[in-house]
Amino acid sequence: ANQYTWAGRFSEPVSDLVKRYTASVDFDQRMWRQDIRGSLAHARMLARQGIISAQDLADIERGMAQVAEEIESGQLAWSIDLEDVHLNIEKRLTALVGDAGKRLHTGRSRNDQVATDIRLYLRDAIDDIQVLLKAFRSALIDLAEKEAATPMPGFTHLQVAQPVTFGHHVLAYFEMFGRDAERFADARKRVNRLPLGAAALAGTTYPIDREFVADQLGFEGVCENSLDAVSDRDFAIEFTAACALLMMHISRLSEELVMWMSPRVGFIQIADRFCTGSSIMPQKKNPDVPELARGKTGRVYGQLISLLTLMKSQPLAYNKDNQEDKEPLFDAVDTVTDTLRIFADMAGGITVRADNMQAALTQGFATATDLADYLVKKGLPFRDAHEAVGHAVKAAEFKGVDLPGLTLEEFRQFSPLIDDDVYTVLTVEGSLASRKHIGGTAPEQVKAAIARARHRL
Ligand code: ARG
Repeated sequence: ANQYTWAGRFSEPVSDLVKRYTASVDFDQRMWRQDIRGSLAHARMLARQGIISAQDLADIERGMAQVAEEIESGQLAWSIDLEDVHLNIEKRLTALVGDAGKRLHTGRSRNDQVATDIRLYLRDAIDDIQVLLKAFRSALIDLAEKEAATPMPGFTHLQVAQPVTFGHHVLAYFEMFGRDAERFADARKRVNRLPLGAAALAGTTYPIDREFVADQLGFEGVCENSLDAVSDRDFAIEFTAACALLMMHISRLSEELVMWMSPRVGFIQIADRFCTGSSIMPQKKNPDVPELARGKTGRVYGQLISLLTLMKSQPLAYNKDNQEDKEPLFDAVDTVTDTLRIFADMAGGITVRADNMQAALTQGFATATDLADYLVKKGLPFRDAHEAVGHAVKAAEFKGVDLPGLTLEEFRQFSPLIDDDVYTVLTVEGSLASRKHIGGTAPEQVKAAIARARHRL
């Protein structure tokens, strides 16, 4: 009365340590819905093809409904004696319906079964992520719209560079996360293929109908080659790479949020519900959420490297190594999902301190390029204009003022082309308004970009 699945071939059960080492049920049970869905599609196909009887199918369907109920309500006792989610469910089904349960695995292997489960799981995860990404990007548009005309210093090298509007800055992230959404959509195409039918590696002797199963499960088609179907996890790696890139963008935004919230900078406030205090310093309000997101980016990079390394050099076809794909994958899914959910919410909790942004704009000669452009428009070659303005900046710095703090006489020492009208060119508003081409920071262009962004979403 050996109860383990492959008892026929073995003369002794594995040790408890090996059992624990090889079991995956603790983490792969999260795919139970996909496992049952895949099994039902497989069973329907078997019945349609006359491989099992209609009665068998009815028994399997009835039994699986109960198994699902037991799992849902937490009644099913998962057992590491049954190694993984697949065997746990199959054993419970068989206990409930007898021989029909034992016929379910006809023409199937856990190798094509698990590959199917992961793909179904990942497809669901991608669809969830897309919904969250859309909500997040929509929140970014709202924020950009509120601050479409709010001037802030744009930076290069973390030095004040040129004025931009806060809305324009936020829309830069909208673009990044838009490409992330495209990457997930693209990865989904390669996830959405059916491995079932590949069986262990070589296919099966039964007259199966893979197209029917693919159709039942909403797959776009079948994996063409049985060896490839059971062994490669490139689709999971690709998905995780998309997660890593998304988190890279999240980490950039996080870094800026942390910096902007520093009292030294003071560009924004983040609503209290996303911050925490200090156990010792009563004055503290720390941007924990963006800091953690920045940290969790490393975690997702790690999962990507885990999966790449897991797959590297694996000979065809299935190897047990692949059981190790699940924890990194699930962790990447969880991390990205939680992060997006929080960020979509947090975007609405950001308030801008326009006064501090304005103050920062008066330090750092943010309109120096505008002055150079002004001279070019009066006929000076750009390189000469660049040099003349360089001298003006040096003089202003020496005098302890921003460029508009120089008198007309002082300006004229650097170029006789400079007139009274220079002072409008040197204003932040003038600087912003003049960058009025598509993709520029002029408030009217930012508003147009917002309208396009809403439309694209
Ligand atoms: N739990 C296994 C996995 O995650 C299922 C496939 C096992 N197949 C095998 N031949 N041992 O990959």
